[in-house]
Amino acid sequence: MFKEYFQYKGISFPEFIYSPCALQTVENNFQVLDDDVFNVTYQKSGTVWMLEILSLIQSNGDPSWCQTVPNWDRAPWYETVLGLRRARRNHSPRLISSHLPIQLFAKSFFKSKAKVIYTIRNPKDVLVSLYHFAQMFHPFKDPGSLDQFLEEFLKGDVPFGSWFDHVRGWMGLQGHENFFYITYEELLQDLRGSVEQICQFLGKQLDEQALDSVVANASFQAMRKNKMSNFSTAPSFILNKNSSFLRKGISGDWKNHLTASQSERFDCVYQERMQGLDVTFPWDN
Ligand code: A3P
Repeated sequence: MFKEYFQYKGISFPEFIYSPCALQTVENNFQVLDDDVFNVTYQKSGTVWMLEILSLIQSNGDPSWCQTVPNWDRAPWYETVLGLRRARRNHSPRLISSHLPIQLFAKSFFKSKAKVIYTIRNPKDVLVSLYHFAQMFHPFKDPGSLDQFLEEFLKGDVPFGSWFDHVRGWMGLQGHENFFYITYEELLQDLRGSVEQICQFLGKQLDEQALDSVVANASFQAMRKNKMSNFSTAPSFILNKNSSFLRKGISGDWKNHLTASQSERFDCVYQERMQGLDVTFPWDN
């Protein structure tokens, strides 16, 4: 029972933390407010990293919110049963996280001035990170061999569906004034510059000291130490604590896991599925 998935409009969701009723409520009845900020990603693309950055920006660099309130309460995943309740209860301005593909997102968002920050990561690293995560996150099915899991990932036969569809769907909002995208790789390469860009998008001005604090407290090392950000307080029936949620925090780890032929197979599907999308990502070069 614990590891069963259900389908909602063609997308798989693990039964334990999601329900068709909550998904339907999110899509049709969730009231998005104009000052909501959504942290949207395909899973394993840097969601909790962006969540930390946004929490720190919201508190003008003061780390006390991040050090006293678990990340899942600061910016709840509103498509989960508990996250929906929490998102509705939180005070404005709200931070809300989501892995939903655009077609399942709250309809009221599209009539609002709320903002979406979409973080994208090299899908080969997403695959590797997800492969490890699936082994520690109890609601997910055992991923089997990496070869098997690679095929399921490429087909979109994993929770939240296809990476390709997710990215193509959300990138359709490119150019809209309430949509901003950034890559995990840019965050890694220049965190301070990325934070400045995010502040600009949010219309938020931080002084140098506040910026320094955001950069220091959103670093991989700081987040790994912070119990409110590293999931060490998550119940053990949800997360196996023998592995770390904040696993490696690097780009290009796929090279340590995929064989040359698996990588070629990935490239082949990538070329086909990303055709016509007018964006160049850091890993395309
Ligand atoms: P790895 O498994 O490759 O280490 P999500 O939050 O979307 O589930 O993504 C989790 C991935 O983001 C993990 O990748 C995790 O280590 C990485 N991550 C989280 N915080 C980070 C940070 N401050 N710096 C770099 N990577 C981070």
